[in-house]
Order: sequence, then structure tokens, then C-alpha cells
Amino acid sequence: MSDEKEFDVVFLGATGFTGQLLVEYVYNRYGLTSDLKWAIAGRNQNKLESVARNVAGDDADSIPLIVTDSNSESSVTDLAQRTRVVCTTVGPYAMYGNELVKACAINGTHYCDLTGEVQWMRRMIDLYETTAQSTGAKIVHTCGFDSIPSDLGVHFAQAEMQKNHGTYAREVKCRIGETKGGMSGGTVASMMNMMEEMKTDPSLRGLLADPYSLNPVNTPPGTDKQDQMGASYDHDFRQWTAPFVMAAINTRVVRRSNALMNFIYGADFKYTESMAVGDGPAGYLKAMAIAGASVLMGLVSAFDPTRALAKPMLPAPGEGPSRETIEAGFFNIELFAKGVNKDGNAASVKVKVTGDKDPGYGATCKMLAESAICLAQDELETEGGVWTPSTAMGDVLIKRLQENAGMTFECLAVVPALDN
Ligand SMILES: NC(=O)c1ccc[n+]([C@@H]2O[C@H](COP(=O)([O-])OP(=O)(O)OC[C@H]3O[C@@H](n4cnc5c(N)ncnc54)[C@H](OP(=O)(O)O)[C@@H]3O)[C@@H](O)[C@H]2O)c1
Repeated sequence: MSDEKEFDVVFLGATGFTGQLLVEYVYNRYGLTSDLKWAIAGRNQNKLESVARNVAGDDADSIPLIVTDSNSESSVTDLAQRTRVVCTTVGPYAMYGNELVKACAINGTHYCDLTGEVQWMRRMIDLYETTAQSTGAKIVHTCGFDSIPSDLGVHFAQAEMQKNHGTYAREVKCRIGETKGGMSGGTVASMMNMMEEMKTDPSLRGLLADPYSLNPVNTPPGTDKQDQMGASYDHDFRQWTAPFVMAAINTRVVRRSNALMNFIYGADFKYTESMAVGDGPAGYLKAMAIAGASVLMGLVSAFDPTRALAKPMLPAPGEGPSRETIEAGFFNIELFAKGVNKDGNAASVKVKVTGDKDPGYGATCKMLAESAICLAQDELETEGGVWTPSTAMGDVLIKRLQENAGMTFECLAVVPALDN
């Protein structure tokens, strides 16, 4: 399905570590002869040609290449005018993303990315949400491992609550189970940039600590507190839990989803996220070790000298996990949703979300590509605005991810069970 635009989707950042994986997925899954009209973009023509050759071999000349500088207003405006969707892996987004979001919002072009930079998302919402609402542009951040499994996991769990108990859960606990993967230089650069920003603007500390930092302005905060810092026993999962590094992003996105749907799950809806690491003394020790490592990581990244010491040990921009690591990776997440049914009795569901390949790269590039194609081609009920993955694409994206991207969404248990 296409309107008058030259392309359905342009993949910007195609020469980066995640961008190349993304282009590979799109070429292998959709090819060049399907109904999807797509192009790749980046700031360097030679690098783009090399990516096209690596990915498509003899077909390389059939992949349209667009040279775009994401810091140039005219360059990103031209890009936004040529395509229905811009899908970008150019990060750190706080350094390179402003002009692009602005151009997409002004030109009614849908947009999706992989940012986990909460402070930058807040800025984009404040600056461009009204414009996007008026032009019809759907702007959707966090379309990778953060925050699709969490945000769509809650969406799926709540749908199961409705289906089985006729009510929404007032609390969802998300526990990250066995997961295997690596980290890229772009992700490191984004984390480092956030630390730099905090140095120049200390008020960001308050924003990042606010559990409701992405909610629409003038909406009342709920009852959730800070993210988990230490080891804690979860009686519902019967496991020890430890802090999860991406909870600081995912929890804000899930809470924004609830707020964007006029608090459909309740103004006092509670959502928490942590790692489930097993029971007994071994589980306790593991939870303590992860909690200790998280504190250490926070300290190392908080100070200039320790940050400088750590930098050479971390991947540089353009680098990331090996092919073997990407192929061998996977993730498992369980969500426990608790509420009260119409008879006033406790009612719950437990659901599971899984994915194959390294979550941050192999799985993420599939999630992002499917989000972009969903925005370009699927019938969606949402109007223009700055949305979360679940509020923009919900069930339609879940279907795509299950059919194409190696993800599963499954209901494990309904309590009390329904009599059929
Ligand atoms: N949410 C998630 O689950 C998740 C997972 C993976 C990555 N990410 C995020 O995705 C982003 C990319 O990560 P990565 O490891 O792929 O980074 P990377 O390898 O450093 O790639 C960055 C890309 O941005 C391009 N770029 C930089 N400045 C540009 C400009 N002015 N104009 C146009 N293009 C420009 C680079 O082009 P050149 O090749 O010409 O340098 C490169 O293609 C990071 O922000 C990272 O945090 C998120």
C-alpha cells in the first residue's frame, strides 16, 4: 500500500552496527520485488554502497541510496518529504535526532527509532507532539528490545485479563528471565552522552528519577516509586529478583502507554520490572551480585575519570557483538498481571514473551523493521502524535512480530481458571 510518496520506508543509519543488521533483515525478509518500496540512507555515499553490496550482492544497484546528514535541516526535510516512514538507527539520538523528529512531525511523516534516552524523548514530546497531532505524523520511540517486549507484553497481558476475567489488572510485574546477548558502541555512546548531559544540566537527574517522566504534562502521578535497586524476593514468581538495567526506560514507556489511553488500566496502575534470577541461596547470591554490579556500573559511569578509564574497554561506535553472539542470543520475559474480577475476587494471568537472537541487535533489528513496515502499510487506528509502540500499533504489531520476527506472546496461566 502506498500513497504518492517515493518510498514506504527509508532506513537511516544503514551504515552503523544495528543499521546494517536492519538492512540485512529487510532485504532477506522482504526483498526488492515485494510491494514494499524501501531505501537506505546515511551520511556517506561510499559506505552506503558498501552496505548495499554486502547485503544484496548483485542486487546492490537496485537498492536506492540517499545521502542524508541528520544534523542538516534541509537534508532531513528532503528525506521526510520523500517517504511515508523514516526508520532511524542514528544515535545517540540526543546528539543527532532533533532535526529529524522535527522534519517528520512537520511533514506528516511517520517515524520510529531505537532510542532509550528518556531525557531526549521528553524533549521531543514537549517540542513536537502538537505538530505531529496536527499533521498526522505518528512518532514512535523505543521500537527495540527497549521497550517492545515490555510495552507489548503489558498490552498482551491486559488483553488476556479482559478476555479471561472481564477486567484490567491494576498491577503488572515484568520479570526478565534467561537472556543472552551483547552490547554495541552506539549504545555505549548513548549512555555516555546521557552522563555528559547530566553534568551540564543537573536537573536531568530529577527527570530520570521520576517514574512518570514520560507521562503527558498535567496528568497526576500514580503510586509507583523508584526502580528496584537491590535484591528482593518476589512471592508471585517464587524467585529472587535483581535490578534490570533497562527498567528505567521500559517502566516509563509502559506508564506513558496507560496515560495515553486515558488511564484505561487505572490511575493507580502499578508496573515494575526486574530480573528473575532463581530461588534458594543461589538465587539470593546471584541477585546480590547483580545488584552490586549495578551500583558499581552506576558509580563508574557517574564520574569523568572512571568513565575515561572504562571507555577503551567498551565497544566503539560501529562495533558490537559478533555474528555468533547475535545468532546464539535469545530472551525470555514473564509478566504477572493481578486484578479483581467483577465478583470482587482476585484474578490474574501470567504471560510469556520470547524472542530469538541477541535481544539488543538480532531481535531488535527485526522489531524495528516490523514497526516501520507496520507504520507504513497496516491499518492503524491511531492519529498523529508521539506514541508508544503499544498505543501506536498494539495487536497489529504483535501479529507481525509473531509471524515474521521470531517472537512469541503466550498466556501461561489464568487464575482462577475459567469453567468452560
Ligand atoms: N533500544 C535498543 O534496544 C537498542 C539496540 C541497539 C541500538 N540502540 C541504539 O541505536 C543507536 C545506534 O546504535 P549502533 O550501535 O548501531 O550505533 P553506530 O554503529 O555507532 O551507528 C550510528 C549510525 O549513525 C550514523 N550517523 C552518525 N552521525 C550522523 C549524521 N550526522 N548523519 C547521518 N548519519 C549519522 C553513523 O554513520 P557513519 O557510519 O557514517 O558513521 C552510523 O550509521 C544508538 O543510539 C543505540 O543506543 C538501541
